[in-house]
Amino acid sequence: MTLRQKINVIAKILTRVVYNPKLLFEVLKDETVFEKYLQKKYRKTLLPTVDLREFLEEDSGKIEHFTFLDGSSLVTDLVLLRSLAKSIPDCDYLEIGMWRGESVMNVAQEAKTCTTVNLSAEEIVKMKLPEKYAKLHGCLINNQDNIKIVYANSMTFDFSSLNQKYDLIFVDGDHHYEAVKSDTQKVFPLLKDDNSIIVWHDYAYNPEKPRHSVIAGILDGLPPTAHQYLYHVSNTISAIYTKRKIKSDLTLIEPPVTPDKIFRVEISAKSLKK
Ligand SMILES: C[S@@+](CC[C@H](N)C(=O)[O-])C[C@H]1O[C@@H](n2cnc3c(N)ncnc32)[C@H](O)[C@@H]1O
Repeated sequence: MTLRQKINVIAKILTRVVYNPKLLFEVLKDETVFEKYLQKKYRKTLLPTVDLREFLEEDSGKIEHFTFLDGSSLVTDLVLLRSLAKSIPDCDYLEIGMWRGESVMNVAQEAKTCTTVNLSAEEIVKMKLPEKYAKLHGCLINNQDNIKIVYANSMTFDFSSLNQKYDLIFVDGDHHYEAVKSDTQKVFPLLKDDNSIIVWHDYAYNPEKPRHSVIAGILDGLPPTAHQYLYHVSNTISAIYTKRKIKSDLTLIEPPVTPDKIFRVEISAKSLKK
């Protein structure tokens, strides 16, 4: 690139930042900035990894209502959620982020009650997102008596209005630092008791690559005394808060990870009525 070309690129960037200063914050808040922030504030940048099998019921899991489309969780994330719900008698489940309803439909097969909080279609369209995307929200949910949908923005919603405490909470809405921190602060007081669990989705880009902005949001959103109960669940992109006694050895992700287990996945599909 010539000097003239470089000056042109810098001028274009500066013009965009002048018209939209938020862009500068986006650049400043990139992942390496959060990694350094974590190191400075918490003297750690990773959560210890716990083996997924710690949470699998009888060493196996099953999921349904899965589309393998954009925004789907990993199969292992849903197996984790469903197994956790199964392990808790009369489980009351709360989630932030419904999308098509894949996570809540899977958990609803095991939990007693499920509440899912999501932006309304109107609010999604106001954010300049496509109407078709807005309308597809909840499209997999039908005739499921134990699912309650609450259309609200989790950043402003008064969760105490739900008048309920929960055994299992899934945080899977907006994954930016501020939103993860806010959602975490809001749901932590809703835990029912010492056996209650929080799972954060998209805590990592893939099971080997953590997302430091989300880890920062989780740590900053929780009281410091809760940090000791935080883990990354192996083979998933989920982080978990649990006081359960962990039996297996904890590790720290060192990519590329050498596999220590192998899964069996069986797939069948049926058409959805239009
Ligand atoms: C990744 S998707 C959820 C996927 C779903 N949990 C699953 O596994 O099938 C995230 C959802 O969060 C919703 N969302 C984003 N920001 C939100 C907010 N501030 N409050 C409530 N919902 C939000 C979006 O509309 C989107 O549907």
